[in-house]
Amino acid sequence: MFLKNQWYAAAASRELREKPLARRICGQPVALFRTRSGKIGAVEDRCPHRSAPLSAGSCGAESIRCGYHGIEFGTDGACTLIPHQPNIPPRMRVRAYPAAERWGYAWIWMGDPAAADPARIPDYWWFAADGWQSFERHYLVKAHWELCADNILDLSHTPFLHPKTVGIPEMATIPLKTWVDGDTVFQQRVMKQVSPSPFVAEWGDFKGKIDRVATLRWQPPSAVDVEMLYEDAAAKIVLRLTQMVTPETEETTHIFFAWSRNFMLRAEHEERFRAQSYAVMDEDISFMPLQQRCIEETGGFKTVAINADATLIEARRVVQRLLRDEQGAAQKLTA
Ligand code: FES
Ligand SMILES: [Fe+2]
Repeated sequence: MFLKNQWYAAAASRELREKPLARRICGQPVALFRTRSGKIGAVEDRCPHRSAPLSAGSCGAESIRCGYHGIEFGTDGACTLIPHQPNIPPRMRVRAYPAAERWGYAWIWMGDPAAADPARIPDYWWFAADGWQSFERHYLVKAHWELCADNILDLSHTPFLHPKTVGIPEMATIPLKTWVDGDTVFQQRVMKQVSPSPFVAEWGDFKGKIDRVATLRWQPPSAVDVEMLYEDAAAKIVLRLTQMVTPETEETTHIFFAWSRNFMLRAEHEERFRAQSYAVMDEDISFMPLQQRCIEETGGFKTVAINADATLIEARRVVQRLLRDEQGAAQKLTA
């Protein structure tokens, strides 16, 4: 089950160049493309002529061109050219999804086009701000999208899954605070005078105890960002984790992950910092498929919740409410 009336990250902007990109989003095959004038398009990945995948074609001036017989479609799905004849049959059009480019990503709206408001795309100002450096990576994970969202919604796993990188033992006993504001869910952990963890000590050149504050924001359908603040008397640094979780199918998920920092900004630090971020991320990415397999082999997702699960429980509640709203609206339309 997928939320449809939401913006999903579909690709990093760098992935949309001269060739269309095939990607499955919420179970639907989509061809993403950038026209030569720079506009982003997202259409069903099937040519209405003879069912060739449009993603196997090419990008035109304002269109995507099918690689089989050269028929072209604009970003609105309307046919703009049939090379073999002047007339265009009315049914020669392809389903187009609303798409927008923001913060270095192509976003897609899988639901009612009339409801697609680009103002609802999350504000990731740190991707474009002076004094910040970011890099991104795309993962395709063999796990249900809610498991993938749960992972980053759950700071309680940090001391156990990441003890050699960003976790410290004290985290397990410091409570997490959760609160909800409309459809947005927050989590915070405030740690005073704790050890920094191996990576954090290096990033801030911290020699002793530090204060750490992690503040997490979840927005539907499944976009999470976390501000990690690390501070001692001499230095204050901030790391931001941004994770856009987009269902590919019911069992597989795209994770668009980015780390942004306001420290170690010189080029010579880039390689080391990326390697460290991948080390942390790989610890998570390798774990979620294990959960998925366990769920499949033992008859479905079951949980006995603990206090630290409050944030992901609230997020799942918002998803359930929005799903009910979407289904209610769809039933009204068909009644
Ligand atoms: S199948 Fe696409 S143009 Fe013929
Ligand atoms: Fe993690």
